[in-house]
Amino acid sequence: MKKSPTAKTPQPNRTVSIIGTGSYVPERILTNADLEAIVDTDDQWIMDRTGIRERRIAKEGEFTSHLAAAAAKRAMENAGVTVDEIDLILVATITPDTFFPSTACHVQRLIGAKNAACFDVNAACSGFLYSVEIAQQFIANHTYSTVLVIGADKLSSIVNWQDRNTCVLFGDGAGAAVLRNREGSHGVITTYMGSDGNFGDILHMPGGGCAVPITRDNADQKLNTLHMNGRETFKQAVTSMMKAAQKALEQSGLTTDDLKCIIPHQANIRIIEAMASRLNVPMSKFHINLDRYGNTSAAAVAIALDEANRTGRFQVGDYILLVVFGGGLTYASSVVQW
Ligand SMILES: CC(C)(COP(=O)(O)OP(=O)(O)OC[C@H]1O[C@@H](n2cnc3c(N)ncnc32)[C@H](O)[C@@H]1OP(=O)(O)O)[C@@H](O)C(=O)NCCC(=O)NCCS
Repeated sequence: MKKSPTAKTPQPNRTVSIIGTGSYVPERILTNADLEAIVDTDDQWIMDRTGIRERRIAKEGEFTSHLAAAAAKRAMENAGVTVDEIDLILVATITPDTFFPSTACHVQRLIGAKNAACFDVNAACSGFLYSVEIAQQFIANHTYSTVLVIGADKLSSIVNWQDRNTCVLFGDGAGAAVLRNREGSHGVITTYMGSDGNFGDILHMPGGGCAVPITRDNADQKLNTLHMNGRETFKQAVTSMMKAAQKALEQSGLTTDDLKCIIPHQANIRIIEAMASRLNVPMSKFHINLDRYGNTSAAAVAIALDEANRTGRFQVGDYILLVVFGGGLTYASSVVQW
């Protein structure tokens, strides 16, 4: 049969690498001592139960898109690509500037990425790795060449500042990566993603959507803030992140001995300690910054990746494992050869 002149010849899938990273956190630091003045808590409790010492809080008028754009610019600079080369922008967030347009479209406007298609990904704290996987698929099958993946959240905008169970845990920030095919590199070897909607209500924001709109009558119930069952979330976080890490290692044919560095979601030092013990790897293998930033949701693993990259925690050719967990519930893990 004669081929139509417009039909594309199928090309073999290509490998996809993270060619640059960037991150941004707001200037304002909120310490545990500052929180003592807001809710009934103390530095010792927060340090002992979470490992968090301080977190960053965006200023008024500084939105998720601003944090995302600042991280994106640093990632593009690190990757050595111009904004015109970006053909897809993905923003993982649960605190969009607006329901629509997407935060990715707001970022496009802020950085002037006129050649990009844009959309948001909602997988809570797992969103950055979900977005890496989406980017990976699009690049591997030749749909897009250069993808900007951003994890950004302004959690301070949905935290209930009267609830000591949650307000001490979270912070604001953004991390970004530029993904592209790079000859001779293995790049992102595999990503495993999972979800379980049955556990949706252990960590969620019940109001503000079409199911429970915020009305004059329910406005005082703080339904448009984050609600969490801490103990259940802790349990599910350890189980899901272990599952994701093991699946990604299995899929890539590697063991923890092959890994130079593990970059986990930055929620609680005790969650990371539990993983280290179950994986039988020393804590020194994990890159940890939650003491300085708290849990920045979709941004957390992306900020940690950028920090680890810039501080030389791994070199070209090294294997790293990224592993995340979030509301949904969602979880994911990627094995990357740098
Ligand atoms: C929230 C979390 C730190 C609580 O730690 P915990 O060891 O489970 O603590 P508990 O829930 O057992 O609470 C112990 C006590 O501390 C109290 N407490 C809670 N927050 C407190 C705070 N900020 N300061 C002081 N006391 C606090 C509780 O009220 C409870 O008191 P009670 O026994 O009188 O009722 C922990 O469960 C956790 O990190 N969960 C996972 C959260 C997470 O990662 N979320 C995001 C996932 S993406």
